[in-house]
This record gives sequence, structure tokens and C-alpha cells, in this order.
Amino acid sequence: MAISLVTGGAGFIGAHVSRELIKMGHTVIVLDDLSGGNRNYLAEGVEFIEGSILDHQLLEKIFNENEIDYVYHLAAYAAEGLSHFIKRFNYNNNLIGSVNLINESVKHKIKCFVFTSSIATYGALEPPMTEDMTPIPEDPYGIAKLAVEQELRVTKEMFDLDYVIFRPHNVYGEYQNLGDKYRNVVGIFMNQIMQGNALTVFGDGQQSRAFSYIGDVAPHIAKCVDIKESYGQIFNIGADSEFTVNELAKVVMKAMGCESELRYLEARNEVVHAYASHEKARKVFGTGSLTTLEEGVRKMADWAKTQGVTSSEKFKNIEILEKLPPVWLED
Ligand SMILES: NC(=O)c1ccc[n+]([C@@H]2O[C@H](COP(=O)([O-])OP(=O)(O)OC[C@H]3O[C@@H](n4cnc5c(N)ncnc54)[C@H](O)[C@@H]3O)[C@@H](O)[C@H]2O)c1
Repeated sequence: MAISLVTGGAGFIGAHVSRELIKMGHTVIVLDDLSGGNRNYLAEGVEFIEGSILDHQLLEKIFNENEIDYVYHLAAYAAEGLSHFIKRFNYNNNLIGSVNLINESVKHKIKCFVFTSSIATYGALEPPMTEDMTPIPEDPYGIAKLAVEQELRVTKEMFDLDYVIFRPHNVYGEYQNLGDKYRNVVGIFMNQIMQGNALTVFGDGQQSRAFSYIGDVAPHIAKCVDIKESYGQIFNIGADSEFTVNELAKVVMKAMGCESELRYLEARNEVVHAYASHEKARKVFGTGSLTTLEEGVRKMADWAKTQGVTSSEKFKNIEILEKLPPVWLED
């Protein structure tokens, strides 16, 4: 039976990937420091280790004590917009933490390292983004993701560590942290509706994204290790149709059964239109028909109502305050 280590398995995508792996018959070890995840979201049957990918001695111990076949590396702090203001934290957590895992994976000759990168690697390139474009990330989060991708490429050349890289984008669904005010617009809107607050929108709300339902993403991430054709490759993964944030707000209000005001804030420094082509993933994984935005948001809304209002904590160690959107300083 294959043994898989899932970092970030108490988080949103990791919780779903773990469930898929359990279905596939893998033994699953989850490593998560619970900085963004939730113990209640852990898949049934996983072995849970509370700890950080920054703790390289802990990693050494986990790899020494378990014959790990596959690493699914999903642990990260993915607040892309905030990453400009928490550069040190971003590179430490998302890049150095990843390097710690790559080191152990090389030493223990694991069979495949699966990494969730991001569409953020493309930056402001003309959409739809395709995997053959040369990435030009526009923020520290995207730069760290691209650096890990490059690290995996040279580690394969030097040490023959196999890998598969996914670049998901704007994934939403059950088990998403509703209380992170710095990321996940679908969850932020749902939480604001449950609080009876206006929905906050940066700029004019005409920026567009292809919001992607988790059920269309997690199974492919889990299964890739059995598809040798995917090794050494990068795949965009997610929904094909893009919607503006204003359109999304309407869909969320309908699913939550509640009208709210929109509160427009000063535009922040972000890519205006970001969506990707999934031709490559379709060829290799046969991704099939995708969940519509209405259907996916309704499923998430049904779940969010069972969670209720989730309190949003301020990020404690913001390193640069200049140009920080004022809404991020509010309680
Ligand atoms: N959700 C998206 O739309 C999206 C899009 C592109 C890429 N990704 C990537 O997918 C992965 C999962 O994202 P998610 O949306 O599930 O986020 P999430 O915050 O729900 O999950 C990440 C998990 O990692 C854990 N974590 C963070 N730092 C850690 C550390 N140092 N040690 C151990 N655990 C740590 C958190 O506690 C959390 O449970 C991330 O790598 C993210 O960058 C997500």
C-alpha cells in the first residue's frame, strides 16, 4: 500500500486531496501546523502530525520513521495580495519550507513529489495562460511558487526526483477557511453575508477570474502519481469560464439566499484578468465536464451555513505597512 505525506492536509485543498488518497487506498500522513487549516477538516483515517515544514528535524524524523512513497506538498500561506507586505514570511514559509521537503524527498528517494504551484506564476501575461508561456510573476507569492517549480526542475536533473506541478487558480468549496480576510473571495463574501455586512470589493469589481470548484481539482492532484505521462510536467487546473467579481457577488448572494450591499474599496495592485487554458490537463487527465459556478457555489453555501460566522483574525506580523489596503487594518 502506498504511503503518502500530505503537507497542509488540514487546509482546504489538502483536506480534499487526502480524502481522494484514502479512497485510492493510500496510507495518508498529514503534516500541518494549523496556521490556516482546521483539525475538524482532516480526512477520516489519516495520521495527523501537528508541525511545520520549517522544522527540518521533524521532517527528518517523519521520513526516517515512514517509508514515504509520495509527497503531496500543499502547505503554504497563499494570501497572494498580502504577500507584498509579508515578504520574509512568504519566502520563508512557502519557499524555504518547500526546500526542506525537497531535501528529505531526495534523501529518501521518494517516487514522486506533487506540488501545488499557482496561476500567480504567470503574473499579468495575456490570458488564457498556457503552460508554455514564460512566467513573469507580479508578487512575492508567485515568485516563491515559481522558485519551487525551478527547484524541482533542477532537482530532477541532479537527483532524479520525479515531480508533478499543478497551477490551480481561485479554487473554492467545502472546507475552505471562511475566516481569512486576506484571501478566498467566495468565502469572504459568504462570511460577510452571514455577519450581515456589505460585501467588500476592491476596485470596480470588473476584474475577472475562473473560479474553480474543488471537486474538479482535487481528484486530479491525487491521481497524478499513477499517470506516468504527467511526471516532469506542469498543468493548469481548474474552471474554464471567467466571471467578474461583481458577477460572483450576485451568484453568492443567490446561493446564500440573501441580498447584501457591495462596498467598493480602492483598487489594489492585482492582475485584472486571470484565467488559464486547461487543454494540457484535459489531454493527460481527461478532466471531463466541470461544475458550473452556480452549482459549486450552492454546494459551498450549504456547507458554509453549517459553519456559521467565522471570526477573521488580523495577520500579526505585517512587515511593510506602506500601501497596505486600509481594509486590512480594520477589525
Ligand atoms: N485555493 C486556491 O485557490 C489555490 C490556488 C492556487 C494554488 N493554491 C495552493 O494550494 C495549496 C493549498 O491551498 P489552500 O487553498 O488549501 O490553502 P489553506 O490555507 O486552506 O491550506 C494550506 C494549509 O497549509 C498549512 N500550512 C501553512 N504553512 C505551513 C507550515 N509552515 N507547515 C505546515 N503546514 C502549514 C495551513 O495550516 C493550511 O492548513 C497552497 O500551496 C496554495 O498556495 C491554492
